[in-house]
Amino acid sequence: ELHRIPHPPRRLPVLGDVLGADARTPLQDSMRMGRRLGPIFRRKAFGKEFVFVWGADLVADLADESRFAKHVGLGVANLRPVAGDGLFTAYNHEPNWQLAHDILAPGFSREAMAGYHPRMLDVARQLTARWDERESAGRPVDVPGDMTKLTLETIARTGFGHDFGSFERSAPHPFVTAMVGTLSFAQRRNVVPPLLAPLVLRGADRRNDADMAYLNRTVDAVVAARRASSGPGGHGDLLDRMLEVAHPDTGERLSPENIRRQVITFLVAGHETTSGALSFALHYLSRSPEVLARARAEVDEVWGAAGEPAYEQVAKLRYVRRVLDESLRLWPTAPGFAREAREDTALGGEHPMRRSAWALVLATMLHRDPAAWGERPEEFDPDRFAPSAVRARPAHVFKPFGTGARACIGRQFALHEATLVLGLLLRRYDLHADPGYRLRVAERLTLMPDGLTLRLTRRSAGA
Ligand code: HEM
Repeated sequence: ELHRIPHPPRRLPVLGDVLGADARTPLQDSMRMGRRLGPIFRRKAFGKEFVFVWGADLVADLADESRFAKHVGLGVANLRPVAGDGLFTAYNHEPNWQLAHDILAPGFSREAMAGYHPRMLDVARQLTARWDERESAGRPVDVPGDMTKLTLETIARTGFGHDFGSFERSAPHPFVTAMVGTLSFAQRRNVVPPLLAPLVLRGADRRNDADMAYLNRTVDAVVAARRASSGPGGHGDLLDRMLEVAHPDTGERLSPENIRRQVITFLVAGHETTSGALSFALHYLSRSPEVLARARAEVDEVWGAAGEPAYEQVAKLRYVRRVLDESLRLWPTAPGFAREAREDTALGGEHPMRRSAWALVLATMLHRDPAAWGERPEEFDPDRFAPSAVRARPAHVFKPFGTGARACIGRQFALHEATLVLGLLLRRYDLHADPGYRLRVAERLTLMPDGLTLRLTRRSAGA
């Protein structure tokens, strides 16, 4: 069934298509292969064959929920030991998925989001305080490092009433170090041959166990603190929902074990990708003076020169939002997702797939398909997301948040947070790129601009 799908020409007996592959950048390797081999291709590694899809038509077909569903595979499956049947890593058939989805979805309603807004502002204020210090000292800022502090504090405080104190530390919080450890380990397990794994990963295995134990301990402490404090209710945040809310129809509740999985899931899924999205956006803004000027003019006009934006004023930054969308187009920080066939079917009417066969959607390449994005897909241009341009494109060509029932539950949360923070930063600072910097994308399942720093100057006017 696979013979019609192209693959690289030279294949090694045991290793497969690993020639020229770099274990640290499996995604960017796959992008290179995709450019050569076309909209659907196979990549073999260590006796396993993976099918990659990025052509706009084929991805639109995979988005058909009646024939396809999320597949928990590759990196996502490797996170099962730590995230279990939490929302992100649950198999479709596991009852805790629907239960947790129904209990937690109202935690992302408009009303809930408006409640998070003041705490998001608190965290943003800590970021600008830190950046003011760097600015006065004439020192550059570590963009991915500081965005990670910001997004971790934001999800921890809004969702769980917990303060990691990230901005009071010079090094990343150990929670972040442990999280990066488990994400990198999950990625590495995809690129090490199973036969060699016990040998190659022995030390890493032990470190990973320690990382997972640390994540569990941290989360258990957060839950215990809430149980011990004022007790139930009052916070109205995600943790309250997890601990207190019963399913509206069945009356069922989440078990303590599942709550632990959900807290880890939300602390990780709720900050890592948003941090990357903000970092890429700041990179492109610092390199695109015209875009920056337009975005800033919008902030000045909609928010005024001073004072803190109200909840409703954030979504009014339409152009800033386009900057974010365009950054997520080029570097969707969760760069792919997997889809499996619900029944025997033919992908695109052409490629037979048996029930439960699956393919990986390469979002980075879908977002560069000239059929959907034109002849210069590498160019950064937020006007691609102007309403008329969006209407002119087919559906399913922009998928940074996945698709269908298992799409990102935190999408509005991420967009509100990121738009708010970009608005505040644009209003306050001029951004100066390091002229020597060339974008390098680091991979740890998610994407991050590696080593990105910016110099800042306070704008003379403005808050
Ligand atoms: C699922 C991307 C922010 C929580 C997903 C998926 C993608 C994604 C692609 C689907 C994965 C798959 O199909 O296997 C992103 C990006 C974000 C972001 C790019 C930021 C720019 C957030 C935030 C939260 C969150 C802020 C929580 C506050 C989740 C959860 C799931 C998920 C719990 C699993 C949903 C389910 O299967 O029911 N995300 N996400 N994400 N995301 Fe996000």
